[in-house]
Amino acid sequence: LELMNITIEEDKNLPKAEVMKINKAHLAVNQRVKVSGWIHRLRLSKSVGFVVLRDGTGYLQAVLSSNLAKAYQTSTLTLESTVSLYGTVKKLPEGKTAPGGVELDVDYYEIVGLAPSGDEAFTNKVQEGADPSLLLDQRHLVLRGETISAVMKVRAAFLKSIRRVFDEEGLTEVTPPCMVQTQVEGGSTLFKLDYYGEEAYLTQSSQLYLETCLPSLGNVYCIQESFRAEKSHTRRHLSEYSHIEGELCFLSFEDLLDHIERLITNTVKYILEDPVAGPLVKQLNPGFEAPTTPFMRLEYKDAITWLNEHDIKNEEGEAFKFGDDIAEAAERKMTDTIGVPIFLTRFPLTLKSFYMKRCADDPRVTESVDVLMPNVGEITGGSMRIESTEELMAGITREGIDPSSYYWFIDQRRYGTSPHGGYGIGTERILAWLCNRYTVRDCSLYPRFTGRCKP
Ligand code: 4AD
Repeated sequence: LELMNITIEEDKNLPKAEVMKINKAHLAVNQRVKVSGWIHRLRLSKSVGFVVLRDGTGYLQAVLSSNLAKAYQTSTLTLESTVSLYGTVKKLPEGKTAPGGVELDVDYYEIVGLAPSGDEAFTNKVQEGADPSLLLDQRHLVLRGETISAVMKVRAAFLKSIRRVFDEEGLTEVTPPCMVQTQVEGGSTLFKLDYYGEEAYLTQSSQLYLETCLPSLGNVYCIQESFRAEKSHTRRHLSEYSHIEGELCFLSFEDLLDHIERLITNTVKYILEDPVAGPLVKQLNPGFEAPTTPFMRLEYKDAITWLNEHDIKNEEGEAFKFGDDIAEAAERKMTDTIGVPIFLTRFPLTLKSFYMKRCADDPRVTESVDVLMPNVGEITGGSMRIESTEELMAGITREGIDPSSYYWFIDQRRYGTSPHGGYGIGTERILAWLCNRYTVRDCSLYPRFTGRCKP
């Protein structure tokens, strides 16, 4: 590259550049603008430089011509350096493509911060196809890439959309505590902490707190981190995940299932309608088809029959029998084969948590549901809850838990009980389904799982 001693200066006779974000630039054709961001792609030659600039709102192709391309300063540019570009937005000629259908004809630019070159260059830190654990060490840099940033945008649209549906469904948002002294989903996955000398845990689920809100606020929901000290290292288990939980009262099991169905289908509909997230879902998951209602309903006992008919074995490698847990592998095989969202219902009492209500017509099973999605399996678990104090006490005792620390939860029944039920949705799991990710780790900003608590 022949480098000329050119100083880059702004021509003060040009119209004043309007400061804007990239997602507004396509509306500013033939205007002079200033956009600031990170160099996402860079191609330099003697006569011309091509930059794709990224600012979090989008990507903009920019052209540095003549003197700008030849200036020494331009030769120092690297990927991920920050710059402010000044220039005129041009509509792309027929046949050429670039994000937004426009290109920035740069007349002046400033360097804000140069990123390292050589060994420390961005591309050496974040190599496509590198070991996943190395990439997770560089998660802060990986987040800058097109795929994970797209997933994070879909995630934001998902949270916005589900809040909208909760509002339409008449649920009020609450914020339960994360530091607790009760378990919800079994003692084996509790993260313990020392709370001023007392034993406390990071919450596994806000369900019990939501139940206590019913008499005060009516139907409620929360979007709260849950924590599970999972021993299993699977592609759908995190130690910390964003748990979306709803709790509703004075309704039947069927009403609950209908509500969950509307919640999922309407949320997906709003995401697909979103001008940013809709196209990103198509890009990440080209084959995605929005689910339609009603979801297939499959009773646990019929699933057992289905599994045996399809020669899928249980954890012991034997034929499934009533009472067996349908573990991850079998569940996924079944869900992927059936290929549509499934409400798997009426699980045996022995497989489920202490608070679940028995079915009136068969006391061996509970009014419980798992929502299964192709490619991921379980994304939601829910149930109707035991209404009577005595039965709840029996459930708590059966679990071997000390009832005294649950007095506030038991009071939910003592001081005016009600039929009620609820569910929990794993944000990262539903996103893995929506964005077609192999693992939920892709769907968390900074995933936490066994052996990983950084950065
Ligand atoms: O089925 P789970 O354990 O149900 C509960 O916690 C209930 N108390 C919820 C309620 O009724 N309010 O968890 C609910 C969902 C699962 O379906 C799954 O999507 C997600 O939470 N989940 C996890 N996601 C990522 N990593 C983990 N370790 C998860 N454990 C559960």
